[in-house]
Amino acid sequence: MSRTLIAPSVLASDFSRLGDEIEAVARAGADWIHLDVMDGHFVPNITYGPPVIKAVRDRTDKVFDCHLMIEPCDPYLAAFAAAGCDIITVHAEATRHLDRSLQAIRDLGKKAGVSLNPSTPESVIEYVLDRLDLVLLMTVNPGFGGQKFIPAVVDKVARVKAMIGERPIDIEIDGGVTAETAPLVAAAGANVLVAGSAVFKGGSEAAYRDNIAAIRAA
Ligand code: DX5
Ligand code: ZN
Repeated sequence: MSRTLIAPSVLASDFSRLGDEIEAVARAGADWIHLDVMDGHFVPNITYGPPVIKAVRDRTDKVFDCHLMIEPCDPYLAAFAAAGCDIITVHAEATRHLDRSLQAIRDLGKKAGVSLNPSTPESVIEYVLDRLDLVLLMTVNPGFGGQKFIPAVVDKVARVKAMIGERPIDIEIDGGVTAETAPLVAAAGANVLVAGSAVFKGGSEAAYRDNIAAIRAA
């Protein structure tokens, strides 16, 4: 099995020093940089959009893994692509035409992901598997960092793993990932782990290095 990737969510970083935080976490061992975009409509919180992502894009050459929690999403896909996102993930619950949204992302030359809320069944991706590069399974209700991992989703990870078979599709987990919960989802088939508070606790590059190593070791 290939190596499990760690994608720190900068939602838990110090936004007043966002560029420095991205550099620090990249040096500390992050594989991807996870960017949570929230609109105060699809989720009850607001973060940042394309101008902020563009401003920090040149701080690292790591993959920018962009998690759009916005509705609608289609009108903004081109702006996120132009800002420098490498992977653009939309929520199945936030687009009326998932197949169209995924095609639009690939037409922009980016990798296409779909995210499912904890209560959304995996069957929604059954007919778009060939348009997907990544499935992001939420293990909390999206909107905030620092929430408690929802164990019922572990079963969904295994089901998605079985559904995708040999296709080159990443399975990413987001929400409440710690050294304690990481082994559960990794064993079920996840190969990319998003972690916000578990990575950024401690507030220094040395702490980020230890925190990433602890999740990896688990
Ligand atoms: C939640 C976001 C997550 C969040 C994870 O809506 O999608 O990426 O930052 O934070 P933790 O790891 O603290 O649960
Ligand atoms: Zn996220």
